[in-house]
Amino acid sequence: MTKLWGGRFASGPADAMAALSASTHFDWVLAPYDIAGSRAHARVLTNAGLLTADELERMLAALDALEADVASGAFTPTLADEDVHTALERGLLERAGTELGGKLRAGRSRNDQVATLFRMWLRDAARRVAAGTLDVVEALVAQATEHRGAVMPGRTHLQHAQPVLLAHHLLAHTQSLLRDVDRLHDWDARAAVSPYGSGALAGSSLGLDPAKVAAELGFAAPVENSIDGTASRDFAAEIAFCLAMLGVNLSRIAEEVIIWTTAEFGYAVLDDAWATGSSIMPQKKNPDVAELTRGKSGRLIGNLTGLLATLKAQPLAYNRDLQEDKEPLFDSVAQLELLLPAIAGMLGTLRFDTARMAELAPAGFTLATDIAEWLVREGVPFRVAHEAAGECVRVAEGRGVGLDELTDAELAQVNPHLTAKVREVLTVAGSIASRDGHGGTAPARVAEQLERVVTRIKDQ
Ligand code: ARG
Repeated sequence: MTKLWGGRFASGPADAMAALSASTHFDWVLAPYDIAGSRAHARVLTNAGLLTADELERMLAALDALEADVASGAFTPTLADEDVHTALERGLLERAGTELGGKLRAGRSRNDQVATLFRMWLRDAARRVAAGTLDVVEALVAQATEHRGAVMPGRTHLQHAQPVLLAHHLLAHTQSLLRDVDRLHDWDARAAVSPYGSGALAGSSLGLDPAKVAAELGFAAPVENSIDGTASRDFAAEIAFCLAMLGVNLSRIAEEVIIWTTAEFGYAVLDDAWATGSSIMPQKKNPDVAELTRGKSGRLIGNLTGLLATLKAQPLAYNRDLQEDKEPLFDSVAQLELLLPAIAGMLGTLRFDTARMAELAPAGFTLATDIAEWLVREGVPFRVAHEAAGECVRVAEGRGVGLDELTDAELAQVNPHLTAKVREVLTVAGSIASRDGHGGTAPARVAEQLERVVTRIKDQ
């Protein structure tokens, strides 16, 4: 059995101690990164005169062999290996011999190793999650493009508010998802510093070159402070937030799909491939993708808050508590890697009933604001115009008609400025076309927005 410590211990760990301490059941995914780190470390040891050129060659050959055996599954951790680093040390000693293999540990600690490898794993994961998010954005863009002219009741408080283009609504979701992608990129720039060379906490006395290791492992620079490098996990908490926020944004889309596919709304129908049935009710078609999205967003929030609680009040530098940093992040990434393709599939195949949405667009007096704003353009102060439009709603509601069905006399009685010309804005199309300020729902503005979203996807 290989142990990375033991000289000062008379006995090995108790079984329960070893069971508590072990982490290979989750940190084994760091193995390829650990080996990459070992290669870089071997090179700086050589540069510092601590390995000969021949030893470096044999060390790299042993690491290559280990990497191949890890990839093929020929080499796996055992119950006795405390963590991924311990297991790979054993694998290296088996392949390079204990004399040469035992030289690689000089000038590094699992503390600077794990902080580096975790960053590497997360940086790759961030790229995968960003790509999956862009697939969801593309599904929304495809629907927006297909339904350029479709209208719907825009809502606030879930109540009918003002008519909008369906494309405008769908593109609203692309904006928040594109910000999620931006956030992952921004995070990456901050996470791209390498703790390798920090040692246990104080740095190395062996003349190693942390900048060279950083460059070889794809980092922009080494950390400025070895204590910070080994003790900080804000990079993990920050991406846990990015992932939780993405989950929350996805949950808002999911909630709408759940509502839109009810009999009462009837805005959309789920494709069979992205819905499930009931074991007892033959008629059921359930929006499970959307519900799992909504549910898992809670889990992503839990992973963030759990990690923050773990980090709170830990004194510098490394504490074993920090081993608890990995599982929440591995889980958040795994959940999103399950969710994102399913959401993209569900959204991309959703069939909208645009006739029903159009029919409902003016319902609930959604054009009342248009009366008020029309009066403002006629020179009436908004306070008066708001009152007048409200009174129109009252009269129309009392008579059970729409705002466009009020007679000339009824309009004039509400306010003398209200002439028959107001009816020009009392259509859904007129209302939507009139909201033509930047970012508004007018078809021309939405077309521009769509183009910009497509450009942003291409620029990624
Ligand atoms: N497995 C540990 C972690 O994930 C790294 C090992 C550091 N252990 C130690 N006793 N210093 O944080």
